[in-house]
Parts: sequence; C-alpha cells; structure tokens
Amino acid sequence: MFDKSVYMNRRARLKERIKSGLILILGNGEAPANYTDNCFKFRQDSSFLYFFGISQPGFAGVMDAESGEEWIFGNDVDMDDIIWMGPQPSVRDMAAEVGVERTAPFAALADCLRKAVAAGRRVHFLPPYRFRNVQLIEDLLGIRHAMVKEYASLELVKAVVDLRSVKEACEIEEITKACNIGYEMHTTAMRHAKPGVKEQYVAGLLEGIAASYGSMISFPVILSQNGQTLHNHDHSQTLQVGRMMLTDAGAENNMNYCSDFTRTVPVGGKFDSRQKEVYNIVLACNNRAIEIARPGVTYQHVHLEVCKVLAQGLKDLGLMKGDVDAAVAAGAHALFMPHGLGHMMGLDVHDMEDLGQIYVGYDEETRPINQFGTSSLRMGRRLQEGFVVTDEPGCYFIPALIDQWRAEGLHREFLNYDRIDTYKDFGGIRLEDDILITAGGSRFLGDKRTPITVEEVEAIMAE
Ligand code: GLY
Ligand code: MN
Repeated sequence: MFDKSVYMNRRARLKERIKSGLILILGNGEAPANYTDNCFKFRQDSSFLYFFGISQPGFAGVMDAESGEEWIFGNDVDMDDIIWMGPQPSVRDMAAEVGVERTAPFAALADCLRKAVAAGRRVHFLPPYRFRNVQLIEDLLGIRHAMVKEYASLELVKAVVDLRSVKEACEIEEITKACNIGYEMHTTAMRHAKPGVKEQYVAGLLEGIAASYGSMISFPVILSQNGQTLHNHDHSQTLQVGRMMLTDAGAENNMNYCSDFTRTVPVGGKFDSRQKEVYNIVLACNNRAIEIARPGVTYQHVHLEVCKVLAQGLKDLGLMKGDVDAAVAAGAHALFMPHGLGHMMGLDVHDMEDLGQIYVGYDEETRPINQFGTSSLRMGRRLQEGFVVTDEPGCYFIPALIDQWRAEGLHREFLNYDRIDTYKDFGGIRLEDDILITAGGSRFLGDKRTPITVEEVEAIMAE
C-alpha cells in the first residue's frame, strides 16, 4: 500500500472535480469459480484500489463531494472467520491506513445512500462490470439492473479518467516492478521455445513466474505458434521448427500494477531469412513509436505513422505497392495489422477499460477513425507527460482474411495478392513494449528492455 497521503490527495482531487452529491466507489466481492467457497483469485476493483487502497473483498467507499466526509463500509471478521482465515485487521485499522476516519458495517451503506437520495442528492457511481455490483446498485438505489450502466455518472467517469491517466512517480515505480517480472517471463519463454515443447508448458511457466512474485498475470497468457490469431489462448500445440512462437503476456505486481509485453521468437532459436525480413519491419514500427511519442502528439498520429513504416517495409518486400501514405489513408495496411498500436496501462492492463474506452482513449478533439483496423485503436488522444501506453505493432498473415479481401478485390492498387498468398503459412509477429510519456519524449518501462533485436533474441535462445 502507498502512504496514506497518496490516497488522501487522490480523493481530495476527485472531490474538487465533482461539485455535488455523494461519490460511491464499490469494491469487488469474491467470485465463485465452481462452487461458492471455491473462488477465482480475488482481484479488487482498480478504482477502489486507486482511491481507497484496500485489497479485500466486500468493501465500498463513499465521499461526500460537498462536506468532504469519507466513509469505508465493510464488515469486521467474526470468530468463525478467524478460525478459518486467521486474525484479520479491523475495518477501522484498514481505513486508517488510507486516511479514512469513518467506517461502518457494509449493511449501513444502503441507509447512507437512501438518505442522500431522499434529500434529492445525486449518488455518482461508476459503470459496474461484475454482475454482483450491478445487482448491488439495483438493491441500493432501486435502478433496474438492465439500466444501471445508463445511470452511471459520466461526470465521475471523466474525473476518474483524468486522475488515473497521469501516473504518479510512486505508480511508475510499481509499473516498473511489473515490467521487471514481465522481463523474466519473456526471457523464460524464449529459453523454452524449443521444438517438441508444448505451448501450454511454456504458458504455465509464465503464470508460475507471475505467481512466484506474489501476484498474477495481468491477463490470460496469449502464446501460440499460430501468432496470426491475435488473442490466441489455445495452447494445445507442440512447437515445431520453422514456426514462430508469439507470446503476449504480462504481470501484475503485489500492488496490482500491470505490465504487458509481446515477443515473437523462432522455434529452435534461429530466424530464417523470410522471418527476419518481416521481423525487422515490425521492430522498426515499434522503434518508430517510441521515437515520435511525446506530449502534445496524438497517439492516433503515432499509430498512423507506424502503419506507414509497416506499409513501406511490406512494399520493399513486394507485398504492397503504390503510394505508402495513400495506402495507409485507405486502410490497405490493415490486412496485415488489423489492430491498434496500443492502449493505456496502469492498474488495469487495458487501463480503465471498464469506464468506457471512448473516455479513456478519445476526447472531443480526437475522435475514433471508423475504418477497419484503425477503429480498433484503443488509445488515440493527445499524449501527456505521465501517460503509460503500450507500443504493440504487428504483422500477421491471416489466411481467411487474405482470401476474403482477395475475393472482394479490396485495395488491389496497394496489395500484391499473388505474393501475399505465398505468406499464408507465415503466422504473425507482434512486438510490444510499455512506454512512459516523459517531458521531452518517451522511454521504455522496466529496468532492462526485454531482448528484441534478432541478435539479442538469438543470443538468449542459444543459452
Ligand atoms: N496484450 C494484449 C492486449 O493488449 O490486448
Ligand atoms: Mn497490449
């Protein structure tokens, strides 16, 4: 947990932004996996962690935007809990650690909110993403569960996004720790990418590394020699020479800050010449992003510049043709990169995605581009010092998509389909780093950059 002044300062800033009413921040409860007492690993809600810091199930925090009063609602353990779980700190002690003076049993939350509503006051809440909290809002505020998201407070969403987007120095320290765990996960994956090894074995090693640092993976591991499938959670294959293993994985550290890296390596340790050519294009894309990402530039612009590097590289290989700028403007490159360059990262791997991507990645000035590929860009708006974003270009050969585009005659002036067809067995490459926007530009996060050049990757795989 950070020093209580961190949480007090965040809440004070939030209350300054929300002019009236109560602010309700719900924590998460336990989530049963296959029966009530057998739960998934507990994960606290990120906004609750941000403002109230307590990583325990069954809590809610309330701030009065007018009087400034703050409460934590939660239940003290009883003897039965102590017998099964051991002694636990009291709610009052936990609240004191984050600078909150008032506490009450969870059941008192209903009364607190009812009084506010009866007095004609607004209760601001964030859009819940777990059904338990949707149901709780229905019970507490009488809003039908189907309507709960609609009644979430846009004013609160925007204020929380503004605060959480700019990372404090203490947060960068925690993200750096998560990145260092990611380094160990990815270098381990590289060392084990040998023919005959099952993907699930390597994926399991990565989960174990994250767990060995006390927390967990930041999202389900993507690891496959079929890297052309963007989010491939099927780890059932056995690695084969001639294929590349794409690993997209990150960790949460003990404070629930995340990392998210992707590396793509040749099974057996040596890139062939065709793999090397495409790999170096994707690497140039990744490096281009860090070169131009700086405060004042939109990430949409960075995305489009990176797409031009991809298109130029593929043109040099004879896969694309024509004017590169025109090809990217038309969206022809999206055959090879049908996703965005990156997303915000922090307490969530896709930071604040529960609050609505449109508010996290876009604003009145920068609007999403409604074109296949670029429409998947999660983060488009103008960068500010303190933003943490991922830089994850890729190049994929997706046979079904190639066939469909070819049949429809899409972007014939920019795509050399005969040559593209010869890459249908290639797979996909993605290279992802986590970057911090600094005053003068941007920098990689983590004490060391995970090996990324052809030489670095081959060297570590030869160990
Ligand atoms: N690294 C997985 C994702 O960003 O969706
Ligand atoms: Mn990512």
